[in-house]
Amino acid sequence: MSNVRKNRPNGLIIAIDGPAGSGKSTLASRIARKHGYLNIETGAMYRALALKAIESDVSFDDEDALMRLAQDSVITLEPRLDGNRVLLNGENISERIREKDVTDAASRVSVHPRVREWMVGLQREMGEGGGVVMEGRDIGTQVFPNAEVKIFLDAAPEVRGDRRFKQQAGAAPHAAVTKDIRERDQRDRTRAASPLQPAPDAVLIDSTELTLDEVIERVEKVIAEKLGKTVASG
Ligand code: DC
Repeated sequence: MSNVRKNRPNGLIIAIDGPAGSGKSTLASRIARKHGYLNIETGAMYRALALKAIESDVSFDDEDALMRLAQDSVITLEPRLDGNRVLLNGENISERIREKDVTDAASRVSVHPRVREWMVGLQREMGEGGGVVMEGRDIGTQVFPNAEVKIFLDAAPEVRGDRRFKQQAGAAPHAAVTKDIRERDQRDRTRAASPLQPAPDAVLIDSTELTLDEVIERVEKVIAEKLGKTVASG
């Protein structure tokens, strides 16, 4: 039996990390669909806690209070073809958590080490059996350092801003969207706890000049190689 099949009864763990607007979510859902894997958007969990903090009037800087909220929350991710349906204590918050106030707050609540530890514990429970594409910022470095496939997807900030702008169908001016992305990046990349950075063994893909299909093709090659190698050595 191959090592993968022994350790991961349901298939590989595929970790996809990268900054906002790099195309992670679309890539992850396409790869998951192709392989019949679960697609888990970990950013949605930070967003859910951020929403709870907003609704409860808890400061994004108050780690103790955020931890109390976290322990009081049941965050459920239901993988669907077009992304995750997100429930907070049973309530569907999938749309609300994409709004700007929650997006900014998520980047702030995610700096706290104990909040991260709590999230990472849940994420490991969800993914450890394998058969999963998990996307976020620290999947290859912290959540599953032993993931079979690690992709770090990046793109130039202007291009990421442009993609977000188009996704939001002009809800905010272009310059404002790009500025927000840069600020969020800066916070995600420079925080002390698990900053956004590629794992040493991640495959780096810069999607600035690539189409989605070209990115998928590269990732599929990495997956095929991994499956081939693992089966051969198992
Ligand atoms: O991927 P996203 O835009 O939904 O993530 C929202 C915020 O959550 C982002 O600013 C950084 C944080 N995050 C994180 O720190 N670690 C993850 N694994 C996923 C997201």
